[in-house]
Amino acid sequence: MAKQEDNFKNVISHAKEYGFIFPSSEIYDGLSAVYDYAQNGVELKKNIREYWWKSMVQMNDNIVGLDAAILMHPTTWKASGHVDAFNDPLIDNKDSKKRYRADVLVEDYAEKLNLKAKKEIEKASVRFGDAFNEQEFITTNTRVVEYLAKEKEIRERLGRSLGNGDLADVKALIEELEIADPETGSRNWTDVKQFNLMFGTKLGASAESAMDLYLRPETAQGIFVNFLNVQKSGRMKIPFGIAQTGKAFRNEIVARQFIFRMREFEQMEMQFFVKPGDEMRWYEHWKTTRLNWHLSLGLGKENYRFHDHDKLAHYANAAADIEFNFPFGFKELEGIHSRTDFDLKAHEQFSGKKLQYFDTDENKNYVPYVVETSVGLDRMFLAVFATSLKEETLEDGSTRTVLSLPSVLAPTKAAVLPLVKKDGLPDVAHKIIEDLKWDFNVAYDEKDAVGRRYRRQDALGTPFCITVDHQTLEDETVTIRHRDTMKQDRVKISELRSIINEEVSMRNWLMKTI
Ligand code: GAP
Repeated sequence: MAKQEDNFKNVISHAKEYGFIFPSSEIYDGLSAVYDYAQNGVELKKNIREYWWKSMVQMNDNIVGLDAAILMHPTTWKASGHVDAFNDPLIDNKDSKKRYRADVLVEDYAEKLNLKAKKEIEKASVRFGDAFNEQEFITTNTRVVEYLAKEKEIRERLGRSLGNGDLADVKALIEELEIADPETGSRNWTDVKQFNLMFGTKLGASAESAMDLYLRPETAQGIFVNFLNVQKSGRMKIPFGIAQTGKAFRNEIVARQFIFRMREFEQMEMQFFVKPGDEMRWYEHWKTTRLNWHLSLGLGKENYRFHDHDKLAHYANAAADIEFNFPFGFKELEGIHSRTDFDLKAHEQFSGKKLQYFDTDENKNYVPYVVETSVGLDRMFLAVFATSLKEETLEDGSTRTVLSLPSVLAPTKAAVLPLVKKDGLPDVAHKIIEDLKWDFNVAYDEKDAVGRRYRRQDALGTPFCITVDHQTLEDETVTIRHRDTMKQDRVKISELRSIINEEVSMRNWLMKTI
């Protein structure tokens, strides 16, 4: 656990030191759970967004984009259920005065049981070697059976209590499991209460005439209220999708996990409109498609798992999370929800306008069903960044810090380094940059010895370093060093563009998603 915490601290300090993420308004001591993306972070974030957008919009002729406003008519949130039901169950510790999400306390307890079971399985796998039968072990080892059964029982009971709004039982569960304040160990808890997560704001010039608004807590509703506008103006035929990326705001109770749980964050959502009755087929389709998209980035299959929901949101008839192995364990990265016709029907009812599709094949009107994919851009950033950050021991015993980002997402694709700051080498380096910058983000660095410059680019995640030396002046060749292998090749300057492109092009990476 201590190692996990150290790793996570390392991720946060690396993000700051190398210009990826800063605390918001830091000179005023920051704002809790709000962060700014710095010069390298903004590039990495933009590349993740583009990788998603291309795979969703550009690669699917039946999915189009949208950029709806953050401020929406307040009735939107009444219709969507957010005013009445977008709550988290919170609990306060009377001694420490700290506030927690009651469901998260219980889920963390259940997750610990799962980890204990995993540890037993790993130990046995090492002990028995090739003869190890994991399935048999899971079903027969008393300790593992007990851990997993208890985990299941707890998760099911939590799902039931939350589903029934039985907050007294959530508190009873916390007491029965003897869950203590993670920071102080105190078990002196208040009752569990509901807390609405939407931020309010006002529209209008004077206090009397101002209208109460909310900052949107999800981008999805901007898509629903525009469903018919897009369908008609784009002559879209069902099944079709509308994709959107943008900011969302939630007044999160527990916001201690860096950019994992923020109060202002960005979502990448796609609502796929289908014929009623077809939704389960599309739900399965999008589960597979979205997992493949994640896997294409090469962060390791073992770092992803599906979690099917026991407790369904008020709008869903099926829901699953793609969970990722973050530095603090497996947590939700993306949600895939079969949202039925809940949202469109609710907007019909509250607006008095029809939001129906005329199906020419069936010769009838209906309210489409919706399958949603929703991934947090900041969570994607954290998954990619934390998994890529490595401390390596080299053959000569020295160590290096390398950020082995998927090269398609790297903020800078190549750094051009003159071996020395004289003899015309900087001029050649600048000329190379002038040529490459039309296609790629490239950087110039002439400070310090070349070895230290390599290390700096490794820590920034730059896939290539191009070194200009005296031989370059004679034969127009340079060395190109690969970040991950540290291998260096001598190549012609004229070949650089195609070598870099082969490695970083979105086309090549997106091909892996199909
Ligand atoms: N429209 C559906 C929806 O908003 P959600 O599961 O509440 O569903 C979708 O959110 C995704 O948004 C999550 O899987 C997560 O990646 C991201 N997300 C949600 N709350 C977040 C927060 N406070 N900070 C960062 N990302 C968040």
